[in-house]
Formats: sequence, C-alpha cells, structure tokens
Amino acid sequence: MRNTTLDQLPSPAALPLLGHALSLLRDPFGFLTTLPPHGDLVRIRLGPFSAVVVCDPDLTRQVTLDDRTYDKGGALVDRAREMVGDGLIVCPRSQHRRLRRLTQPAFHHSKVPGYANTTAAHVAAASGRWKDGEVLDVTAQMLAALLDSVVEMLFSDTLPRETVQELIEDFTVMVRGMFRRTVLPPALTRLRTSGNRRYERHIARLHRTVDTIIAQRRTGPDHDDLLSVILSTLDTEQPGEAPTAGLSDGEVRDQILSFLFAGSETTAATVAWALHLLAEHPEIERQVQAEVDAVLAGGPADFSHLPDLDLTGRVVSETVRLYPSAWFMTRHATTDTTLGGHAIPAGTTVAISPYLIHHRADLYPAPDAFDPGRWKTTDPTDRKNTAYIPFSAGPRMCIGDGLGPAQVTLAVATVVARWRLSSVPGGTVRPDTAATLRPRKLLMTATRR
Ligand code: HEM
Repeated sequence: MRNTTLDQLPSPAALPLLGHALSLLRDPFGFLTTLPPHGDLVRIRLGPFSAVVVCDPDLTRQVTLDDRTYDKGGALVDRAREMVGDGLIVCPRSQHRRLRRLTQPAFHHSKVPGYANTTAAHVAAASGRWKDGEVLDVTAQMLAALLDSVVEMLFSDTLPRETVQELIEDFTVMVRGMFRRTVLPPALTRLRTSGNRRYERHIARLHRTVDTIIAQRRTGPDHDDLLSVILSTLDTEQPGEAPTAGLSDGEVRDQILSFLFAGSETTAATVAWALHLLAEHPEIERQVQAEVDAVLAGGPADFSHLPDLDLTGRVVSETVRLYPSAWFMTRHATTDTTLGGHAIPAGTTVAISPYLIHHRADLYPAPDAFDPGRWKTTDPTDRKNTAYIPFSAGPRMCIGDGLGPAQVTLAVATVVARWRLSSVPGGTVRPDTAATLRPRKLLMTATRR
C-alpha cells in the first residue's frame, strides 16, 4: 500500500482562520462524533495548530502503546509543563520511566482501600452538611470533597487546617488559570495585569507551601501517606541492583501537583456525571438505592463493600464510557512514522479521544444511551479491550486506574444512601471541557431519603 501524506488525509470543512477550533469549543462531542465517517485518521486545524485525530480503536491503541514514537509533547503540553513542571502526567518519555518507577509504590494495591475509604469519608462529611430541599452545585461539591480527600491521601492529617485551605485555594487558581494560559498567546500571559499577578502570587505560595511540607518531612517522622511512600522510595533500575537516589525535592513537588490535579478533577467529574445520570434514569436509580441500602445497611460505605456494590460499580463503568474525564489527549510524533498506512512526519500532533472511541455506534449499540447492563458480560478492567479506554493504555496509562473506580463507586454509594438528587426543572447540563470533562454547574435538589 502506498502511504498517503498528511495533506491527503480527510478533513471536514473548516473556517478560514480558526479552522475547526470553534466547532471543537462550541460542541466538542458533536464535532468529534462526526469524524469517524471521514476515515481512520482525520486532519483538524485549531487556529495555527493542526492535529491528526485517530478515530480507529486499534490505531489508538498503537499510539498509546508506542510512547517512543508518540511522546507527550507539542506546543500545548510544553506550555502546561512551564507552569506545572515535570509531573508524571506531562513529563516526556525521557523522564517518565524513572518517575513512574519511583511513584508506582504509592499506588500499590495494598494502599487502595485506605485511600478509597478516605474519599468515602470526605464525601460523607460534605454531603452531611447538605440541607433537605437545598439546591446544590453538585460538581463544585464533589470537587471540594475530592480535593480534600487527595490532600489527606497525600499528607494524612499532618497539615493545619489553614494550610489545607491555602493549598486548595492556590491549587484551584492554578487549575483555572492553567488552561486559559495554555491556549493564550504567551505575550498575553506575561502582561502585568491584576489577573496575571494574582495567578503568579498563588502559584508562588503553592510552591512555597509544598516545598516547606517536603523539607519538614525529609527530617521529620514517617507518616503512612502517599508523600511518605514517595519520599522513601529509592530507585532500582534493574532487579538486584543497589538502589540509587530517589526523587529530588523539586521532582516530589511536581508529582504532588500532578496527583492533586489528576486525582481530584477526574474522580469528582465522574461522581457528578454518575449522580446526574441516575437522576435522569429513575428506574436505574431505584435499583441502585435498593442495592446500596441492602449492602451498607445504614452504615458508612467502605472498601469491603465494593464486591457487593455490583450495579453501582457498573453505573460507574458506564459513566466513564459516556463521559471519560480525560476525553481528548495529544501526543507528539518524535520521528517520521506511519500509522494505518498513512505517513506521519516527525513533529505532527496526534490526538486520541476516549470519548470518540466510546461513542462509535459500531462498537456500542445505541452509544449515547446510559446502559449499565453493558457491563454485565464485559469486564471493564480488560486491558485488551480497545473499545474501552477511559484510563488510556500502555506506559502512560492512568496510575490511579485501580483507585479511581473504587473512589467513585464509594462516593456514589455514600450520596445515594442518604440523598435523592433530582435535576432542577428546566436546567440544562452542559459539559465543561476546559480541564477535564465535567458537568458545568450541575444544579440539583437534594432530598433527604
Ligand atoms: C475516574 C477517574 C480517573 C480517570 C477517568 C483517569 C483517566 C486518566 C487517563 C485517560 C490518563 C492518561 C492521560 C494521557 O495519556 O495523556 C491518566 C493519567 C494519569 N492519572 Fe488518571 N484518571 C482517573 C483517576 C486518577 C487518580 C485517582 C489518580 C491519582 C490520585 C490519577 C493519576 C494519574 C496520573 C499521575 C496520570 C499520569 C500517568 C503517567 O503518565 O504515567 N488518575 N488518567
């Protein structure tokens, strides 16, 4: 087969200057789902950038498995890196293997129950403050609870309350500013506007706080939390080799920022979507209530309940199919290569999208329908299933793939046990794709059960 060039790849009609940027911003999902009929690889243009979107599940897998050819990088990732450093999520392959080796022990399966129970306790505390009949922004509620829970996973209860509050405030400003800054021209982000100065002040304080915590921990006693594991892990490249040094203080800080982001935004968004989907599907909601009532029997949800929360778990698997929080990811071709018979020159931005794959009608009958029954016979943890990639695949696969679903399932069970959340009449739920894929201002009425 003769390889086609990038210019020969199909591309939907585009606006002269903006290309497909408006379509992707205004209706990202409508736009993405129009791409597969064009071909396995489709060229899109976002203002000055162009990218090749992979629409085929096997080719998506090929990209995710081969991080030597398709590395993290490109203009957007490089800018994110300037702001958040070389955390596991954004670092290039040259640093990734070592960073992953040194952080993986913190996610050992023996650690998952403790972390998941921490999350359940924070969601119980947050929902315990709701009032009967109150209208809540469920996305904001879950973001706050999940962020609190990641702070505790990282630092146990070693931080004074005001430090936690400052940390959360600074981090929230960082996340909001980060995405705006990633897409704005660098000259604009360097202007001495009050917004830019505020952003820089919060980032500086965030770094100072985390640096101080690390310095105190280096000399202080060990604690049974994620930070302790990372600080005490030494590198062993080959089994049997003498360990060399672990992560430097700067590297530890970058990983902490990575975990704060990746461990709160994704899970909070998924809990919020799941609660929204249950409200929209009363029959499934009733079945989940019955399951949760029987399994928890009035007590708090904890990790030991997970095997019995079968339907609730399937609701979560189906939620991340419909709304995968990491919905669009990019890679950077490090060398001239071919993908599915098409030539990909070095430097090309290659985009992969769990959302697009999860909504292909040839892979999922009625792909837009919420149907937890799909997971009765299909194992959501089957890593060979190229049609289901909410946690991606290959070396850059989510480090929290075992933890996230446990946290979300316990969070949903915790809320359902005490509350019935119903959609506010006339309210429309729109996706917010700026950070992760989360429902924008999800207003729901809480009724005590
Ligand atoms: C429902 C929950 C979650 C979803 C859907 C999710 C999804 C993902 C996806 C798709 C990636 C790959 C990103 C890429 O290739 O560009 C990823 C990476 C990552 N996730 Fe998650 N995630 C979740 C929960 C978590 C949690 C709880 C943590 C940690 C506390 C976490 C930490 C990370 C990190 C550190 C990476 C980078 C891994 C690497 O490159 O080695 N995630 N996640």
